[in-house]
Amino acid sequence: MDYTQTLKLLEKHGQTHLLDYFYELDEDERACLLNQIENIDFAMLDTACHSSGREIGNLSPVKTLSVPEVEKARGGFKAAGYQALNQGKVAAVLLAGGQGTRLGSDNPKGMYNIGVTRELSIFAQQFENIKEVTNCLKQPFDVFVMTSDINDAATRRFFKEKNYFGYPEDKIHFFIQDMAPTCSFVGKIYLEEKGKVSLSPNGNGGWYSSLIGSDIGHYIADNGIEWLNVYSVDNVLQRICDPVFIGATLKFCVDCSAKVVKKANPYERVGVLCLEDGKPAIVEYYEMPEDLAAETDENGELRFGCGVTLNYLFKVEKLNSILKKRMPVHLSKKVIPHIDGGVKVKPEQPNGYKFELLVLDMIKMMDNCLAVEVVREREFAPVKNKTGADSVDTARELLIKNGVKL
Ligand code: UTP
Repeated sequence: MDYTQTLKLLEKHGQTHLLDYFYELDEDERACLLNQIENIDFAMLDTACHSSGREIGNLSPVKTLSVPEVEKARGGFKAAGYQALNQGKVAAVLLAGGQGTRLGSDNPKGMYNIGVTRELSIFAQQFENIKEVTNCLKQPFDVFVMTSDINDAATRRFFKEKNYFGYPEDKIHFFIQDMAPTCSFVGKIYLEEKGKVSLSPNGNGGWYSSLIGSDIGHYIADNGIEWLNVYSVDNVLQRICDPVFIGATLKFCVDCSAKVVKKANPYERVGVLCLEDGKPAIVEYYEMPEDLAAETDENGELRFGCGVTLNYLFKVEKLNSILKKRMPVHLSKKVIPHIDGGVKVKPEQPNGYKFELLVLDMIKMMDNCLAVEVVREREFAPVKNKTGADSVDTARELLIKNGVKL
């Protein structure tokens, strides 16, 4: 699009300020800016800015495969899981495109040193967990690593420097997630520089479309991969491509499954897997009505106590069928440095929104979802903050309890 066409487009969406400095830019910068604007998903922005938040439907608890039930069937599940892995039908997807603002490190979160007397990055620990499975396989499974424009180079460099944590390099595939513009509280898109729209990673929910749209998008179909185990970078006890989890999912013939833990208390800050209007859904902790969060059943257990650990198994066929569907867009308040009156400003307080798609919304797009309970102390050690709850401190304690030398 040329200048005039771009201006017309911006007029339509009330964003003409993006061209305020156009004539101060050189040829290349102008071309870049026009190209950036052409790629903005204005429909997504308009919907997000004018939505009044999500209305929660009728919630009911979801049937969970409890730890004792899993134990009883462990042998059969494990055998089925190993068989699928040995047939190359399952691969892993590491979500590592986040900015980890709460942890407050400039590096990708996975590079964070969780060790005490030795260096042990989160990435390295997760690959140790992976090797516990691949040591029993004929061949290692593929690991797709999602990064963002912001941390892609640093992540790749770190993997290379660490010799891919002893994992075969040709089984690790990087792809970059999409970006979304940031905007002020009244919906005006920010410029990061005079010739550059302010962009941020578009959340972890766009992982499949970003993967399929990338230059390795064909790999899944070409290699007969039927299941993808998606997991977050910030749980150091994450069990990846766990054969028991895979086997349970296959035996129950579902489209997807989620590893869940019993919530520690009604107000723990985790999403809850339940049924919403009869369909599987995850309700975020800040969306859950307080009375429901605290409700208990006849055994004194929380009725809505199925906390998700950001470890899901999705059937590829089902993912393909929802690929073109629009996902809800979430707004999160952030501090966004930007150009104001021709100069760069760095606000102290949140001054606008980032737009995010969330992987948990994919569950609602599935017809069914199996909740598989896991032992919290063995599988859930989130690293969200430096100290306090879900922090480096709590994750270290749990690693030590699991026999990991720090
Ligand atoms: P979080 O929602 O905890 O976000 O990510 P974050 O960016 O890591 O941390 P904060 O909120 O800024 O402190 C959960 C998982 O989703 C990934 C993260 O890397 C993490 O594995 N994620 C998040 C992405 O891959 N892309 C995103 O745009 C956001």
